[in-house]
Amino acid sequence: MTEPIIEVNGLRHTYLEDTQLTTEALRGVDFHVLRGEAIGLIGPTGAGKSTLAQFCNAILRPSRPNVMRIAGIDTGVPSARIGIVRQRVGLVFQNPADQLFEQYVGDDVAYGPRQMGLPREETLERVRWAMSMVGLDFDSFANRFTFSLSGGEMRRVALAGVLALRPEVLVLDETTAGLDPLGRRELLSLLRRWHEEEGLTLILITTQLSDLPDLVDRIVVLSSGRVAFEGASRDVLAQTARLADLGLAAPPMARLAQQLQEGGLRLALKPLTVAEAEEAICATLRC
Ligand SMILES: Nc1ncnc2c1ncn2[C@@H]1O[C@H](COP(=O)(O)OP(=O)(O)O)[C@@H](O)[C@H]1O
Ligand SMILES: [Mg+2]
Repeated sequence: MTEPIIEVNGLRHTYLEDTQLTTEALRGVDFHVLRGEAIGLIGPTGAGKSTLAQFCNAILRPSRPNVMRIAGIDTGVPSARIGIVRQRVGLVFQNPADQLFEQYVGDDVAYGPRQMGLPREETLERVRWAMSMVGLDFDSFANRFTFSLSGGEMRRVALAGVLALRPEVLVLDETTAGLDPLGRRELLSLLRRWHEEEGLTLILITTQLSDLPDLVDRIVVLSSGRVAFEGASRDVLAQTARLADLGLAAPPMARLAQQLQEGGLRLALKPLTVAEAEEAICATLRC
């Protein structure tokens, strides 16, 4: 797990350059993800998270070489083999409607495998597998109209379409945001299982920081197009004041622990989840 699968050095990106609407979305980002790692990418709205996600999947590419390498491929080289990058790194867009375009759900999920030139049988097998993974029953959903689905269902279809590529890296751009609490818990436990059992590399973009403690090893905080700070998941989430300065709410239990500390209760460990808070408070009060 020591080899970076994504490496970014000094990445800049400006939208609508030379117009009145010009926006410097990334202002020199250094970032790397090791093979098999699970990281959280957080930051306030407009920080550049979705822009960076699109670079990770080579939808956006640096205008020069030596800025970014994905699975050993320099995406800033015009002749780079981008098809390989798109297959290795699956991106679930922030807005699922941007990702879906086929009339029928089954065709949408099959799009990637068909592009890869897989045989019919294998395509069908992958579509069934990917749909079952996200909790969409093939027989009832394959022939539904994509754009008649609810927002949550569209998110599942978009995720299935990416899974059908069998990527090594999965980038989820606020995918948990549009799901109900049960769907969210299911998705998080599915991700944990793939990460732990199959070594899937994960980049989870979220503004819900309580999604992170059980899943990611490391968190990178983006602010105004730069990496503001980063570190081990627990260390970053425990910095409640620093996160609040950026408009980010630390997990509720981290904030509670902070208030208890300020009120004079010295906790032996810094809790992030309800179970950890219970343990820390009981240990401190010897209950
Ligand atoms: N397609 C676009 N055209 C112009 N500006 C954009 C576009 N996409 C994003 N931006 C701007 O770039 C900045 C970073 O956006 P984004 O990467 O979407 O941030 P985040 O995902 O962290 O909210 C924002 O100021 C946003 O308004
Ligand atoms: Mg975004």
